[in-house]
Amino acid sequence: MCGIVGFAFRQPFSAKEILTALKRLEYRGYDSFGYADNSGACIKRVGEIAVDAAPGSFSRTAIVHTRWATHGGITETNAHPHADCTGGIAIVHNGIISNYRELRGDMEAAGHVFRSQTDSETIAHFFEGKDVKKAMPEFFSRFQGEFAVLLIRKGDEKIYAFKRGSPLVLGIAQDGNMVASDIYAFSNKTNRAIFFNEDEFAEITWEGWKFYSIGEGAAPVEKEITPFSWKEGEELGEYPHYMIKEIKEIPQAAGRLLLSLQAEQKPAVEKIVQMMKNAGRVIFVASGSSYHAALIGVQFLARAGMEARAIVASEFRSFMILDESTLAIAVSQSGETMDVIEAMRGIKAKGVKIASLVNVPYSTVQRMSNAHLNIAAGQEICVAATKTFVNQVIAMAYMASMVGYKADFASLDGCIAKAFSQEERIKEIAAELKDRKDIYILGRGISYPVAREIALKLKEISYVHAEGMMAGELKHGTLALIEDGTPVICLMPKNDKDIVSSAEEVKARGARVIAFNGNGIEEGVKIGGADAVAFCIASTIAGQLLTYYIAREKGLPIDKPRNLAKSVTVK
Ligand code: G6P
Repeated sequence: MCGIVGFAFRQPFSAKEILTALKRLEYRGYDSFGYADNSGACIKRVGEIAVDAAPGSFSRTAIVHTRWATHGGITETNAHPHADCTGGIAIVHNGIISNYRELRGDMEAAGHVFRSQTDSETIAHFFEGKDVKKAMPEFFSRFQGEFAVLLIRKGDEKIYAFKRGSPLVLGIAQDGNMVASDIYAFSNKTNRAIFFNEDEFAEITWEGWKFYSIGEGAAPVEKEITPFSWKEGEELGEYPHYMIKEIKEIPQAAGRLLLSLQAEQKPAVEKIVQMMKNAGRVIFVASGSSYHAALIGVQFLARAGMEARAIVASEFRSFMILDESTLAIAVSQSGETMDVIEAMRGIKAKGVKIASLVNVPYSTVQRMSNAHLNIAAGQEICVAATKTFVNQVIAMAYMASMVGYKADFASLDGCIAKAFSQEERIKEIAAELKDRKDIYILGRGISYPVAREIALKLKEISYVHAEGMMAGELKHGTLALIEDGTPVICLMPKNDKDIVSSAEEVKARGARVIAFNGNGIEEGVKIGGADAVAFCIASTIAGQLLTYYIAREKGLPIDKPRNLAKSVTVK
């Protein structure tokens, strides 16, 4: 899982320039990076992209790669680009070649010498000594799994770009062409793109491009140019981290979404709501934070009397019950999560309609859907989802409100402001909790998914083991882990008596209870929020701030936590 970029320009460009474009894809992985150009120059480094890594390199044709390791450890040798035995071919790859062991075995038996432990290196060796274009059909039939690949040859001013499964898009500039995992890599240089379809390959030079379809006997295909617009939001400004910047953008992002749902996105919401009504049953498919937002959506819809379920995308196959009375709704910030895309392929194969909620426009999930809503949160750079999670919840509540759920959107601003007013108190709690190894978060009903979301944030950003659970389940096992001083965050919507009993139960066993709202228990953080939507959002914000300040106390790499990536483009 990785990000790839290739440039073919009339005028020579520096390695720094293409690495700067690659830096924009670092959310796809930051274990190592590498550069190769058609002079044969190749640079590989472990760690985040250093744009000055190749000070003297200029070329007219180059490819670069940022890696999230799957096969082979995080080493310079395993960093891309990979070469064939002669060094005449360099490739970068996003995806996983699932039959690489078998391919590598055959290639080694034929005398190829491998340098890395990666699945990707097989691609470079496959093309060694071959006419790349002519060998393409054989490549597509022999290589299994997912791939978006860029290939260059020493001395040749052409990039071969080919894909199955993983995303790939061509950007058309004034005096050259660019190809990348997504438009964001070049959205500051052009607003015209051509999206690759499945099993297509292209020959790209600074002068032009030719596309071919493997399904049509590798015959040339006409492609449509898609104009796009993308708002840039990458300046950190006064903030020390993107995470806090993006949390602070919540009021603005939420307001923008609500307005757009009532104006330019009105026809899209109406279309999706009609699809929901026609189907009668909704199945959300999502991963990570988006799955937690979907769990909240299920409860909003249930309160409106509509049957709904949320299924983790990677497990979708095990739970798949699909028929014409089902509408699938894919929820994905990036629109590129491979687990979600895989599930969507299965859903489509059954002829079931798919709607989607995405944040990144023109993403694969959006393009695969019959209808889509944009959650309009703006670009999110920190690996952890913050403002995008909140906007997903708002979009869910809004759709549910159109089938009868009563949400008080007017109280949202006040509640969000109230959560932010608790920032100093939250900092104090963070200082107190910073050395704790385990934190429990209890929720009930609609606050249960929020408890899970806060636990996820604590794990990924603060490196604290955290469990977000249904308060009612506590007494069936987890209570055994509560000791003197164990931190337990209790999400206590107003008027919920049962959660008060759960808080009392852990308190009686010595737990350090931090109540989000008091309801009679000593209040930890004042959330307010009589309305369910408002409480969900306000407690999420309080949890996000707590996570952020614990991570700061510990001096952690907040925006790029170890081992993770924002967009997980492999299964
Ligand atoms: C990764 C990210 C999470 C995110 C999940 C789903 O694991 O680190 O923050 O929630 O993917 O991503 P999506 O883009 O599909 O919402």
